[in-house]
Amino acid sequence: MQLQDFKSCLAEVYQGEVVGESAFDNMLGVVENREQRYIVASLLQFETEAKAIMRPVLYQYELPVNDAAQGYATGQAASDDLNQLPWKDRFEALQNLIASQYLPRYEMLETLVDPSQNKQAAEVARFMAEHERRILKVMENIVRGVDNPAEPIVQLLSHPLPRFE
Ligand SMILES: [Fe+2]
Repeated sequence: MQLQDFKSCLAEVYQGEVVGESAFDNMLGVVENREQRYIVASLLQFETEAKAIMRPVLYQYELPVNDAAQGYATGQAASDDLNQLPWKDRFEALQNLIASQYLPRYEMLETLVDPSQNKQAAEVARFMAEHERRILKVMENIVRGVDNPAEPIVQLLSHPLPRFE
């Protein structure tokens, strides 16, 4: 039973990444300056890298590794609405969404896998919980007006974007 729970939670978290990638891709179309572009492109990169990190474990459990068009459409539609909001309000809305809906599921994933049974899956689950906490931190930083708000995710990127001062 736990394996089924793990697999469905894993697939759900992966879909969350597809939705997030699509939403930040769409948001890049409405950035207003170089700083906003760096933040949103770094968020996009963070979601893309998370998909790559998760994909071997999805494959191992014979879950679909193609990006469901539905997830992409969901992300585009959600960000069409979000993008109407001013910059800080947009991230406050995202902060609330992540804290209430996404983070609990991402943190649950970790509890559904036994590291002695599958070390790689446990490491990916632990990484994804940290991934989502870092995203939440970036949203909080933007809302509070902290300098260099994307730093918590940039630290975890394997392929960070160049920063032009
Ligand atoms: Fe994500």
